Amino acid sequence: MPKKIAAGNWKMNGLRAALREAEAIADGAPDGIVTLLCPPATLLASMPGGLATGGQACHSQESGAHTGDLSAEMLADAGATYCIVGHSERRADHGERDADVRAQTEAAWRAGLTAILCIGETLEDREAGRTLDVLSAQLAGSLSDGATAENTIVAYEPVWAIGTGKVASPAQVAEVHDALRAKVGPDIPLLYGGSVKAANAAELFALENVDGALVGGASLTAADFLPIAEALAAS
Ligand code: 13P
Repeated sequence: MPKKIAAGNWKMNGLRAALREAEAIADGAPDGIVTLLCPPATLLASMPGGLATGGQACHSQESGAHTGDLSAEMLADAGATYCIVGHSERRADHGERDADVRAQTEAAWRAGLTAILCIGETLEDREAGRTLDVLSAQLAGSLSDGATAENTIVAYEPVWAIGTGKVASPAQVAEVHDALRAKVGPDIPLLYGGSVKAANAAELFALENVDGALVGGASLTAADFLPIAEALAAS
């Protein structure tokens, strides 16, 4: 059985005052699942114990002349054990392509981090009926041989569901996750992300091939995130 993972992606949110929320999340994290926060890198080294932490992106190289970038080794040095790679916001804002994401995944592994590889179709892809083809191509282009249940998590994040309040329906999520499970094998955890809230988490976690969630907005406070983690622990 894959591990169950409640992951929060704080994106570009969180000053030091937000560490109070991280502490409350650590204090309330339920047993039996991995509760993970990916805060801005400025907060990584200050995160409380009792939580797993991750970076939100990493450069493919270990060090060098890349102003403003962070290597996977730096994230690990600051206490991270996970790193998100290939988030659609990175693909859109920074022009990251599958080959870049593949190199970043390998960089995360090199530093001993578990890569959380994000894939997702646009609304245009979905309406054209090419969702599964797009996801297969992203997976094939960005996941190297050598992915294992220890070093890789795959997060399905439909671009049209991120930050929009439009969560994918259980039937849409089930169709995609069943197809992903057939591709990645029985053990790699599969997370859903896109407008996950306490109100819709339980019905998503009830699906056979959903092993947890990658949560944006609703991971910023303990009041919003802990009920999601609890729903996962109870599933
Ligand atoms: P929201 O939960 O805010 O839709 O964001 C999802 C996401 O992009 C997590 O990586």
